[in-house]
This record gives sequence, C-alpha cells and structure tokens, in this order.
Amino acid sequence: MPGLYARESRSVSKMAHLRFFPQAVVGGSGAYLTADDGRQLLDFSASWGAASLGHSHPAIREAVGRALSDQAGASYLSSANEACVLLAEKLLSLVPERARGRVWFGHSGSDANETVARIVVAATGRPRILAFHGAYHGGTIGSMGVSGHPAQQGSRAEGLTLVPYPNSYAAGSPEAARDAALAHLERLFATEVPPEEVAAFFIEPIQSDGGMLVPPDGFFKAVEALCRRHGILIVSDEVKVGLGRSGRFNAFEHSGIEPDIVVFGKGLGGGLPISAVVGPEAIMNHSVAFSLQTVHGNPVCAAAALAVLQTIERDHLILNADRSGKVLREALDRLTARHTLIGDVRGRGLALGIELVTDPASREPASRQAALTVYRAFQLGLVLYYVGVQSNVLELTPPLTLTPAEAESGVAMLGQALADVAAGRIDEALLGDFAGW
Ligand SMILES: Cc1ncc(COP(=O)(O)O)c(C=O)c1O
Repeated sequence: MPGLYARESRSVSKMAHLRFFPQAVVGGSGAYLTADDGRQLLDFSASWGAASLGHSHPAIREAVGRALSDQAGASYLSSANEACVLLAEKLLSLVPERARGRVWFGHSGSDANETVARIVVAATGRPRILAFHGAYHGGTIGSMGVSGHPAQQGSRAEGLTLVPYPNSYAAGSPEAARDAALAHLERLFATEVPPEEVAAFFIEPIQSDGGMLVPPDGFFKAVEALCRRHGILIVSDEVKVGLGRSGRFNAFEHSGIEPDIVVFGKGLGGGLPISAVVGPEAIMNHSVAFSLQTVHGNPVCAAAALAVLQTIERDHLILNADRSGKVLREALDRLTARHTLIGDVRGRGLALGIELVTDPASREPASRQAALTVYRAFQLGLVLYYVGVQSNVLELTPPLTLTPAEAESGVAMLGQALADVAAGRIDEALLGDFAGW
C-alpha cells in the first residue's frame, strides 16, 4: 500500500508520534521490515526493543494462535488464568532471591513503573523517591512523575529527587563519573533528602533513552550499599535493556547487584503489550484492587511472553546477544576510526549507543547530524533512531536474533549514512516534519 504514510496523517493523531523519517510498514520477518513501497528495511531498533525476537517469530505466532483458539478470558482481574500463572512462576525463577515474591502484570513499562512508584510509597510509608536525570520510566502521569528525561511533557512527582547518572564520556573517565555521582548522592542524604524518607531508588542498569549510558564499574555496588544502609528499595527498570539484551538475562547482573523489585516490559511480549513487576510479597501484596486495568493479565499476551522467555532459553539468545553484540561493536569501532562525527560507542550486548559530536575534542553534541544520519540510513534501508538528553546518540536495540551478517550489513549502511551527512550531501529540509525528540 504505497502512500500509507501520507494517508495515516489524515486519520491518525500525532500525539503518540515520535517520528524520525517517513516509515510505513506492511509486514516483517526476522530482523527485516517490509516497507509499503516493498523495500526490505533492516531493523536495528526492533520497535524500541519491543520486537525482541524479531518480526513474525514462529514461536509467538504459534503461542498466540493456541491461546486464541481456546481463550481463557481476557483478564486476570477477577479470574486466574493458566498463562499468567505459568508466566509468573517463570519470572520468579529469573530474579534474585530478594525480589522473589509475587508478580504483577500490566500492559507497558509505563503502567508497571507507575504501579511501583505508588506501591513503594504506600507499602513503606516513606514519601520520597530517587531517580536519575535523563531517566525515561514511562509516558503516563505516574511514570513521568518518577522520570528525568527532558523530552517529557509531564510534571515530576512531589516526592521525587533526581540525581546525576554517571556519564563516563562527558566526565573524561569512568572513575571521575562514578565518584562525582556518588559524592552527589551522599551529599543529598546528608542535607536535603533524609534517606529514611526515601521509599525507593529507580535505576536503569544502562540508561537507554538518556543516551545509552553504561554505569562505571562499582557505581551500582556503592549505590546498593547506600540503599541497604538506609532501607531504600532498589527498583531495576529492565524494560528496554533486560531479558537478555545486554548479554545477561537481567542487565543489573553486570553490576553485581540484587534489586528488590524488577520491572519488565517491551520485549517481554515480543511485540504484544505486556509488562511485569516482580518483587517481595510484603510490597506486592500490600493492597488489593490497587493497580488494575481491565485486560491486565490478558492470557494471549501472557502466552506470547512465555513463548518469548522459552525461545530466549531454547535458542540461546542471550549468548547470541553477546556474540552479535561483539560483532556490531567491532564493526562500529572500525567506523569510529573513519568518522570524526563518532565521539563514543558504548553499551552492552545488543544495547548499543553511538554518541555523535561535532568535534571529538570539544564533544559538542551533533544533534542535527544525528537526525540527518537516521534519516539517511532509512533511505539506505536501515531503521534506527536516536536518544539522549541532547538528542545525539544513535540507539541500536536490534532483535536478539540478529545474525553477525545482519550486524555487518547494518553497520555498512550506517557508515554510508555518516559519510553522506559529513559530506553535506543530505538536505536538511528533509527534517522539516521530523522533530524526533
Ligand atoms: C527504560 C524504560 N522504562 C520504561 C519505558 C516505558 O515503556 P512503555 O513505553 O512500553 O510504556 C521505556 C520506554 O521507552 C523505557 O525505555
């Protein structure tokens, strides 16, 4: 259906749009999407990580078909269903002991984080929450309330305090970034934020939308020690980088910490809407009828999630994320040597970021060039978007099934896009309708 993009604008609201180029798709298979003009697009975003197994994965198709052929209702609000129970049992086996209590199901990372933000305050009686500048925990009022991303058009919660996420590239070294962020936290606790009033600290084990920042060694271990000392719950938001993407099942495992509460979303449903919060029974069973939406615990989405988890295990996709991630990383490092626009390449497994700068010495963010690069990449057949508080970090979150050959092919297109942008061959007027974020 050529012309789908233009036709969409006559019927669909822009409120949920976050557009970088005129992408319109009519199908997909594996790491490729089929555009409405018939082009095959290599998908380095996987719909922001949601299509964790790629597109049209047979395991999801089969699980969803089975669940729909004898549908056990549409919700877990007023009835147990087997898919949710099986999924909860599976998720409990995948988190550390201290989080191994009960599981809540929602539709999105947003409703999951919002639920956590409310329940930790209700259950502990402590009014404050900590989160990071640049953190994106969701797009509903409650999840924006505990976020710190500058692109959000919502207000922060009254009890929220934002602290700096250590940025090794900006600080000059991981040690400098870590020490400054920890010193800030300790100073806060000694002054305006009494730690005994803090219910929870929301962390992203890799801060994705804030710029794909990888925490320096020892940072989260020190944060964990502080939280334990003051009885503060650690909430690990694994929505984008969890479920194997980082090369470990949980991304917090790289930091050697054990969060109290783990939040899953995006890739859990492999493209279908489902999220989950896993945490201690005292918190998760604090209250009934506390956070519910009618089709929460939908057995079809739960069946898809079970298929995702089983496929990750059966097909060794965590290992694949690690291996294909290394291939990507090496190819990107080779690009860095050729393109002065690339200031830094960072990330873990198949969660990678490329920070573009106008000059490697000054490290001025190359935001315009980032927008032009993703536009040009799309023209060449590659889908990727950008993130970062300065809108200058290209984000790679491809399907966990990505092959080394697909990794190389995508980086070749990206290299061409960067060369075209650096040479001024891409018309800036193209960006007119594509403000991104
Ligand atoms: C780390 C993180 N948490 C939560 C969310 C919100 O998830 P959703 O948009 O599915 O509600 C996002 C979305 O980008 C995210 O990256």
